[in-house]
Amino acid sequence: MTRTDRRRFILSAAAMGASAAWSAKAAPSKVAWTERRDLYPQGVASGDPGPDSVILWTRRPAEGSSIPLTLEVAEDRDFQRVVATTQTEANAALGWTTRVLAGGLKPSTEYWYRFTDPQGAGSRIGRTLTAPAANDPRPVRFTFVSCQNVQQGAQNAYRRMTWEDERAPAGERLDFVLHLGDYIYELVFDPAISPTNYDRTNKDLVRYKTGRKIANFTIPVTVEDYRQVYEAYLLDPDLQDARARWPFVTMGDNHEFSWQGWQSIAVFGGESMPAQTIRAAANQAWFEFQPARVTKPGAGLNAFDAPKVTDTPVTAFDDHGLGTEPNNLTALATLTAYRSLRFGRHLDLILTDLHSYRSEEPTGRKGTEPFSPRPYQQFMPENVQKVLDAGRTANGGKPPATLRFGDQDVPNVCKDAPPQTILGATQKAWFLKRLKASTATWKVWGATQGVLDRRADLQNLPASFPKWPGAGYAGFGGGDHGAAYVERGEIYDFVRDHKITGFAAVSGDRHSFWAGRAAKALPPERFEPVGVAFITGSISAPGMAEALQYNMKKDDPLRPLFLVDRPDGGRPDVTANMLMRHGVASCLEYAKSRDVQKARAVRNPDNAPHLDFLDVGGHGYAHVTVTNKAMTCDFVCIPRPVTRSATPDGGPLRYRVRHEATLWAPGAEPTLRQTVLEGDPELSI
Ligand SMILES: [Fe+2]
Repeated sequence: MTRTDRRRFILSAAAMGASAAWSAKAAPSKVAWTERRDLYPQGVASGDPGPDSVILWTRRPAEGSSIPLTLEVAEDRDFQRVVATTQTEANAALGWTTRVLAGGLKPSTEYWYRFTDPQGAGSRIGRTLTAPAANDPRPVRFTFVSCQNVQQGAQNAYRRMTWEDERAPAGERLDFVLHLGDYIYELVFDPAISPTNYDRTNKDLVRYKTGRKIANFTIPVTVEDYRQVYEAYLLDPDLQDARARWPFVTMGDNHEFSWQGWQSIAVFGGESMPAQTIRAAANQAWFEFQPARVTKPGAGLNAFDAPKVTDTPVTAFDDHGLGTEPNNLTALATLTAYRSLRFGRHLDLILTDLHSYRSEEPTGRKGTEPFSPRPYQQFMPENVQKVLDAGRTANGGKPPATLRFGDQDVPNVCKDAPPQTILGATQKAWFLKRLKASTATWKVWGATQGVLDRRADLQNLPASFPKWPGAGYAGFGGGDHGAAYVERGEIYDFVRDHKITGFAAVSGDRHSFWAGRAAKALPPERFEPVGVAFITGSISAPGMAEALQYNMKKDDPLRPLFLVDRPDGGRPDVTANMLMRHGVASCLEYAKSRDVQKARAVRNPDNAPHLDFLDVGGHGYAHVTVTNKAMTCDFVCIPRPVTRSATPDGGPLRYRVRHEATLWAPGAEPTLRQTVLEGDPELSI
């Protein structure tokens, strides 16, 4: 390596807040290392692998303000072939975390790493992998995950993933884990006040040093508070083992900042709260705990020089819904997390941040309540969702002043608003450019939130039901690209017009498994899929099925559309899956006969031609393989993760279902082939 290359490498590491370690000839370790996991309570991690480099991480709290550490990277687990050794420092100003960019590594190669303090007390040994070189034609394998709630659930899914990967042949192991957010849940429940949530027992996991009590939970408000959640979560043995086994690629979703928050605004009980200081604190803690190729504010390696912001109401917005209040812009600029990573010839992973730049969610605005009357409070008419989403551009730029719903004319609260954007203007331009420029076989969009429509044909309910006042299909409200029709259409038209093939969206957030095809519209409009889309169930956070089984009253008139009681008294069958896949007639037939075949025979094929699979009660992970010819996505579903599994395999599986897309020709429509590999997915098909 020339002096200039080396200097450039050190500078690029420094921009990520990382020390640099450069690979040299392999030699046995000269460091006296004794494993002391107690001194590195959050273990080790690696992130954002490239073909010749990867970021390595640990946390080592100490007395004073800093502690020097030695990092070693080796080609073997016994550190007899150490290829890089460097000095770094864990610093109080970064929550005692430290990161090193290890470079000069070989592509698609397994490495081991460990940190050691001046007394010889060492971290656990981590394993990591570099990415395949950009021209490498071999398959790439990864899992994608989201939504781990350590206060309320068990991380058995990671143990299952580890168990399977350890037993996989060398050429078939995972290259990395993609974490699509809700890595933490910032809302913390006090078990003395709220001992349980559905099937779950709230653990006494975190008590914020500062915090703010809202209703029956507490939120973090300082960087120390956010650090407390990451520190507590990473004590989970299964999560920690996963982080020590694979490089992670992570993108935050909403809970890394605030449950219903957007930009630097927090929302509780429908009330907005300026939260610039909270956004900046959340971004800093994310930076500290996620080894990722992002830049941090300030030049020094050992501080996150967060600019000072004050909590100021955000009242003025530009044409893309971005709040122009200076503290808002400053707080958001503390972390730019959207980025792309290349893995061999077949995978470009394009990751987007769906909460930092999004405009206000239109279907949640004050004044939209009349569209969700009892007993249809879960629904909102699809045609109304579309008008609200389009804002002032609805109806060719002549938005209606009111919207007809049953016998009411409801004021259109979005008639002066810009059309909804979830990406924001700058990120969207970047995203489309990356998509177009990609030369990989598969262009995988890491969209933390789902892109598939959720709807039901309530217009087909029999007269025995309370009258649904909507004129057509019912949606389930907005929040993600499943109901961001304008922006989704813009992206998919771009994919179609540029004849981009191998386009796939992978998401989390919905706490449910979904497989289907990415299309901008559904019948009665033209259904023209331009890609495939998969959403993974949560690692452990409770989902819709669990909530329904607790909350839905036996005498709710809509109960058969969501749940059907079993004669054996077991957990009710989840017809909600059938409702969104096949429509109301299938649910009602199933409620009558409990015969799946008969129920599917009366399906409404126009309700969801985009969907092949849906399980709102599924937990686990999704395992993807991409090759020159195909993309497969296996949903690996575990039982409800209420308590930690007692067995080393992480417990039994409910099912493993594969969806496979063969690479389609430019201009052709993708299709999915489904195979149940094991277990029973019940009403999900
Ligand atoms: Fe979540």
